[in-house]
Amino acid sequence: MKYIIAGTDRPDSNTLKVSKYIQTIYQQLGETVEIIDLKEMKTHLHQDIHYGKPSEGLKPYLDKVLGSDGLIVVSPEYNGSMPGILKYFIDHLKFPESFEFRPVCFVGLGGMFGALRPVEHLQQIFGYRNAYVYPERVFIMGVHKILNAEGQPQDETIKQLLLKQAQGFQKFTQALSSFKIDANAVIEKKKQP
Ligand SMILES: Cc1cc2nc3c(=O)[nH]c(=O)nc-3n(C[C@H](O)[C@H](O)[C@H](O)COP(=O)(O)O)c2cc1C
Repeated sequence: MKYIIAGTDRPDSNTLKVSKYIQTIYQQLGETVEIIDLKEMKTHLHQDIHYGKPSEGLKPYLDKVLGSDGLIVVSPEYNGSMPGILKYFIDHLKFPESFEFRPVCFVGLGGMFGALRPVEHLQQIFGYRNAYVYPERVFIMGVHKILNAEGQPQDETIKQLLLKQAQGFQKFTQALSSFKIDANAVIEKKKQP
């Protein structure tokens, strides 16, 4: 299963709206995909101060990442970077298996630069953690102008770019898992005697 990490806890977030739209694209491609909403998760996150020893409330969220065949990280830009809660969540994920050899792709959204800065910083983090970073990123500039009242993107170019990224990322994850070089296959192999 794939997971979309909606990278903020802000109420009425555009990130969550875009994440829901991306979820429908993957569903149309025949994928099972769930959203990890950091707003829902944050009560558990703040109860847990033991990095590496998650509380019972936080554990299901960390397990989703650990079992995923691909992660789609959707991040807004806050003060030239990613939201603090997204980095805080990342820092609670089990090392190294949460990201090592795990396929990941990125969508950024914001004002003038479409979250170029946080996405490039996320690429550094996931690169450092040995993830398989899908090269095609999508940057949504002026996000508040392109969503309608239902939170659906109205810009045809953005819709096409999100579809193209999803189609490519689906093939990317299939290719890695067919050769058993993705995170889940590596974890399974380590379990064998
Ligand atoms: C705390 C905060 C800081 C922001 N900083 C930036 C910024 O540095 N650059 C930018 O382009 N947009 C910035 N924005 C605009 C957001 O990227 C934009 O409003 C986006 O919709 C936020 O995502 P959200 O609706 O999921 O919170 C900021 C918004 C917030 C709430």
